[in-house]
Amino acid sequence: MSLYQVIQESGISLHANESPYPIEDSIKAELKAALSTIPFHRYPDDRALQLREAYAAYLRVDPACIMAGNGSDELIGLLISVCITKGKRILTLDPDFSIYDYYAKRNEGVLIKYPYDGENPFDIHDAIAFAQAQRIDMILLSNPNNPSGHWIPVCDIDILCRFFPQIPIVIDEAYGEFAPESSISLLAKYPQLFVLRTMSKAFGMAGLRCGFLLADKDTMSKLSPYKVPYNVNAFTQCAAVILLSHQEQMYRHVQAIIQERERLYHALREQFQGILTIHPSHANYLYGASRKKEEMIQVLTDHNITIRNYADSDHFRITIGTPEENNLLLSVLQKHFKQEEIISCER
Ligand SMILES: Cc1ncc(COP(=O)(O)O)c(C=O)c1O
Repeated sequence: MSLYQVIQESGISLHANESPYPIEDSIKAELKAALSTIPFHRYPDDRALQLREAYAAYLRVDPACIMAGNGSDELIGLLISVCITKGKRILTLDPDFSIYDYYAKRNEGVLIKYPYDGENPFDIHDAIAFAQAQRIDMILLSNPNNPSGHWIPVCDIDILCRFFPQIPIVIDEAYGEFAPESSISLLAKYPQLFVLRTMSKAFGMAGLRCGFLLADKDTMSKLSPYKVPYNVNAFTQCAAVILLSHQEQMYRHVQAIIQERERLYHALREQFQGILTIHPSHANYLYGASRKKEEMIQVLTDHNITIRNYADSDHFRITIGTPEENNLLLSVLQKHFKQEEIISCER
């Protein structure tokens, strides 16, 4: 069977912004060897000390500024449950990560959405004026934005923090490794600032669930009592430390994904002019729109390729796959739309 046939038959997942690259075999062998050393009959280290130290060394921060979580999802939930009570207002972007809606609703908070899809330059002062008029109690946004892929520069986050010294500001950097800079550099300056990170994306560890929350040391010590005990299991702690000792793998994968993202971006724009619009991206996915979205999703589904479909809109999001997966996506779309062009010319 050809490689394409194998990929096609097993299905291609380009909908959840996971890494297309599995953990390399030599590192998997280390994970396997570590299994026999873990005391599974004991609870894991509640403070996740070794893990926090390894992650702190990676980001060059103090381990006391870090909380580990069962994925960053858990930490988003923690922050919202601590900061938001009935009727409190959270500013986010439209579009932004859908989990924010879920946690806001669960805590009876109200999400106020500043419309921004990355098409025009971001105007931080306009966003601030909007937030002031809306009397918001918290700011929570993904940067790079999921789904638009747009990235707000750190100087703008700095301005935002200066304007709102009294409310929690949470910058979700789940795709931080794909972006030029991190807001972590602002933490020492602003005690109300939080930054979220994850090992699910660049490190390819989505299945193991490991995320982090960063804040100034004093802020973190106030938040720590609210953490669920033993929230990060023993194997995940151990695996994450091993992966952090092999950062070269992560950097290699991030470079490969960025290169493929740019190739796919240009190919989609050039080959499907008038059919699709595609946004530039600072993450591991591309956001786009098409009046023919349903038809496009159907033809991809027929070939076992899943992308993210945003219901009630023309929008979709494609996670960057391996070069072979991206080529297959392009060739399925080319064949379909070429065929359609021929049929419409014959009519
Ligand atoms: C912006 C954003 N934040 C957080 C997450 C959750 O990541 P984790 O796997 O660490 O829970 C995602 C996952 O897709 C995401 O897109």
